[in-house]
Amino acid sequence: MKILIINGPNLNLLGQREPGIYGSSSFDAYLPELRKRFADIDIEYYQSNIEGELINKMQEVGFSYDGIVLNAGAYTHTSIALQDCIRSLKAPVIEVHISNVHQREEFRHKSMISCACKGVILGFGLDSYRLAIEALKG
Ligand code: DQA
Repeated sequence: MKILIINGPNLNLLGQREPGIYGSSSFDAYLPELRKRFADIDIEYYQSNIEGELINKMQEVGFSYDGIVLNAGAYTHTSIALQDCIRSLKAPVIEVHISNVHQREEFRHKSMISCACKGVILGFGLDSYRLAIEALKG
């Protein structure tokens, strides 16, 4: 099984960025833990701050990989282009958020991508990514 984890804008700053909300671990520190836990799964990782690059990457893998775990960051709340992209792919996409966006500002309550995703996992810190992989494993 081959899956891709994609992190969108500002998630390259995990560990430094608002640690009270997003925790103090970087994604690079967390990724080896995930790979160890799911040793039978090929887990690739991609991060970009640029909307079109996220779309290019999803188009690249979305017809051959078994699933995508997507934290689209703030593009979650704005991007119809990401929604259209997710709808176009063969691979199931799980939307993930580290924080519980429903406990935060109202503009974070609306997701433009949830309707196109297989499911949504949010609010469990970095463990949200593990839960999403569990969901893809089935
Ligand atoms: C986030 C929540 C978004 O609202 C925010 O813009 C992010 C991170 C999360 O993982 O909790 O960048 O997707």
